[in-house]
Amino acid sequence: MESSRRNPIGDVAAAGSLRRVHLVLTGLLALRFCGWASGSAEPRGWISTIPSGGCRRKKIDVTRKRKTKEVEEMVTRTVDLRSDTVTKPTEAMRAAMASADVDDDVLSRDPTAQWFEEEVARIMGKEAAVFVPSGTMGNLISVLVHCEVRGSEVILGDNSHIHIYENGGISTIGGVHPRTVKNNPDGTMDIDRIEAAIRHPDGELYYPTTRLICLENTHANCGGRCISAEYTDKVGELAQKHGLKLHIDGARIFNASAALGVPVHRLIQAADSASVCLSKGLGAPVGSVIVGTKDFITKARRLRKTLGGGMRQIGVLCAAAYVALKDNVVKLEDDHRKAKIFADGLKEIKQLSVDASSVETNMVFFNINESSMISSMSLCEALEKFGVLAMPASSTSVRVVIHYQISESDVHYALTSIKQAIQEILAIGTTK
Ligand SMILES: Cc1ncc(COP(=O)(O)O)c(C=O)c1O
Repeated sequence: MESSRRNPIGDVAAAGSLRRVHLVLTGLLALRFCGWASGSAEPRGWISTIPSGGCRRKKIDVTRKRKTKEVEEMVTRTVDLRSDTVTKPTEAMRAAMASADVDDDVLSRDPTAQWFEEEVARIMGKEAAVFVPSGTMGNLISVLVHCEVRGSEVILGDNSHIHIYENGGISTIGGVHPRTVKNNPDGTMDIDRIEAAIRHPDGELYYPTTRLICLENTHANCGGRCISAEYTDKVGELAQKHGLKLHIDGARIFNASAALGVPVHRLIQAADSASVCLSKGLGAPVGSVIVGTKDFITKARRLRKTLGGGMRQIGVLCAAAYVALKDNVVKLEDDHRKAKIFADGLKEIKQLSVDASSVETNMVFFNINESSMISSMSLCEALEKFGVLAMPASSTSVRVVIHYQISESDVHYALTSIKQAIQEILAIGTTK
């Protein structure tokens, strides 16, 4: 299916060179403000209040006496493994943003947004698409459109992003009741458990009304595991049998597609709707897209406006997102390879344990063995001094996420830093 519209992103070369000049100037300014250029005049302690970025390393630089080669490296290198949401837009993205043809999208007049939405709908094999500011809003709108009547119920995983990390928005904003089913370690839910959770119409005097099932692919809290097309089809059949809808939180569906070697449209074939994040492993600065039928997307567009997600000249954002799709889908497989290297490296560290065989995409969760008495928080803090940023997943486990701006060398550096950080913690006795 060819898109009927012309690519309105246009020639980005001129904008690219302007951008380069701008980058050089801002780079010089940044050096100046970090005190790396001559004659730094910032007051002491100023730099340590900066929450992130290159300047952060100055905090360690205070201990200048330890100027070994390792420390040299520490002060210049940041390996940010907190999430795949931390990527910086590429020059090509910035250039595309600068030259994007835009108009008011709330008035349905932004040519770049319209063209981009058609492209995403085509790639994902659905009738229509709408760009939204975030994955959270994409999921919220999808659930609310499928559950228009207050008192509807949605069946979803007890470890799902919608249930845990989206502020309970489906309940507080939409009046939708969540019914959780246990997520298996691979991110699926047992089909018979899903079926058992569907409310029987005979009890409608008491029960909420089941209207929707949600899946998550890849499943973030289950370590970025992939949900197969066959499993999704089975859930789709179950939904149809009971007159329910199926929504997929596909924040990282392109990762699943790359890992399984199955096109995205096949992975969501059985679903009535799906949301996909462009600002995670694909590297766009902002945005998600919801796909579904034309009727569903018309309702979604209206609800997006209700929620304050009508954003006017969003062609600027869609242009960057298009570059992300065009340039970065092909890089996901390599991200998964680097995640495996990471997991294999962690296996060699005796204070840690990791199930490397469960690393299917770009996420690695590892545990800190209890006998070491090291908390995830103290490990992450110690790592920060090496410029390695990671997030505790619990008091004894840590999550790292690989994206295309993390090189294989970064992975090895992070592994070495973890070993050194553990040794330092053990040496000074900073435990739980
Ligand atoms: C699986 C999943 N769904 C949805 C979201 C929400 O996306 P956003 O942060 O854009 O709201 C995330 C964010 O990390 C996610 O991991």
